[in-house]
Amino acid sequence: NESQPFYGIHQPGIVTPRPAAGLVAAFDVLARDRGELERLLKILTERAAFLMKGGEVPQIDPKFPPLDSGILGPVIPPDNLTVTVGVGASLFDDRYGLKEYKPKQLQRMKRFPNDALQKDLCHGDLVIQFCSNTPDTNIHALRDILKNTPDLLVMRWKQEGTVPVMPPHSPKAKESARNFLGFRDGSANPDSSNDELMKQIVWVQKGRGEPEWAENGSYMAVRIIRNFVERWDRTPLQEQEAIFGRRKDSGAPFDGKTEADVPDYAADPEGKVTPLDSHIRLANPRDATAHQHLILRRPFNYSNGVTKSGQLDMGLLFIAFQADLEKGFITVQNRLNGEPLEEYIKPVGGGYFYVLPGVKDEQDYYARALL
Ligand code: HEM
Repeated sequence: NESQPFYGIHQPGIVTPRPAAGLVAAFDVLARDRGELERLLKILTERAAFLMKGGEVPQIDPKFPPLDSGILGPVIPPDNLTVTVGVGASLFDDRYGLKEYKPKQLQRMKRFPNDALQKDLCHGDLVIQFCSNTPDTNIHALRDILKNTPDLLVMRWKQEGTVPVMPPHSPKAKESARNFLGFRDGSANPDSSNDELMKQIVWVQKGRGEPEWAENGSYMAVRIIRNFVERWDRTPLQEQEAIFGRRKDSGAPFDGKTEADVPDYAADPEGKVTPLDSHIRLANPRDATAHQHLILRRPFNYSNGVTKSGQLDMGLLFIAFQADLEKGFITVQNRLNGEPLEEYIKPVGGGYFYVLPGVKDEQDYYARALL
């Protein structure tokens, strides 16, 4: 029942090891002016700090609604919860006079060729990512925030997801969790415990031409990607493996033995070993400029029920962080456009957000330097 640190120059929930349960909720902001926006961000700071630390809920006069939903009991366990707050491009329209402070690359997510975006699953003025050991803890935190911001936030959409997490002492702890297509997901992810690497790939640093307030934040790309699992389960194994460019059992590349092995594309220019149109080769051709396009993926698997046509509504709650949205997610997704995997996936929602810099101490609050 661990507690993750809330205060710091970066927000938690990005390089924090991914726990078993994730929830992304996007909101419209109702604040009528900049003062009210500031009030919202102060409330969010106060609630996130409390929820991540946990503790006893004060009991009040039973003539009033209790302060807490009670779904975790009278004492809130921290349960590894992280709360991560980001803002969408729409927050920087004329409403709050913040136009000139918009992070340079923050934009409304545009449709990619294979997308079937549903309006009610896209975009938002504000996003909150909750991650913890259990879905209940995430829902509890979301309900707490909704209860405390009724006049300031209205929810647009939410998506929950889970991933199998091995106990740290297990021999399997180092293996990447599998997604709902049965493949290990995360094998080639950059190492999020490497601070220097994260400065290059994830955190917005000075000298990138971003507004000063935005320093130490990050761009977040969220995509709700449906998987056609019934069709996938009737696809031959060799075809599945060719689509990704990795072995299904071990997660190894075709010219390697283990998941951690790095494919050698220079030795395979025609794609006889790893197909040129495989997911991993398109996503990262490992050429001279590859380092500029690295992203940190932190996805969850989702399972929502049954579609109107009687199919499982499940897929990937894809979440990626990067210091450069254009060179990161947008470039990688453009390279993936037309990939053979598209026959089995359909992006239906999501958005682009800017994760605010961290809250440094108890005097600080989200976006203080912006407001
Ligand atoms: C790698 C699955 C969507 C970017 C992989 C791997 C799998 C996978 C199994 C190989 C193991 C690994 O390195 O993690 C999926 C599935 C998706 C999906 C099932 C959709 C349902 C995306 C999207 C992007 C993306 C939308 C970004 C636009 C990457 C990258 C790699 C990767 C950058 C690592 C390539 C490398 O460095 O070798 N994905 N992915 N994926 N994927 Fe995806």
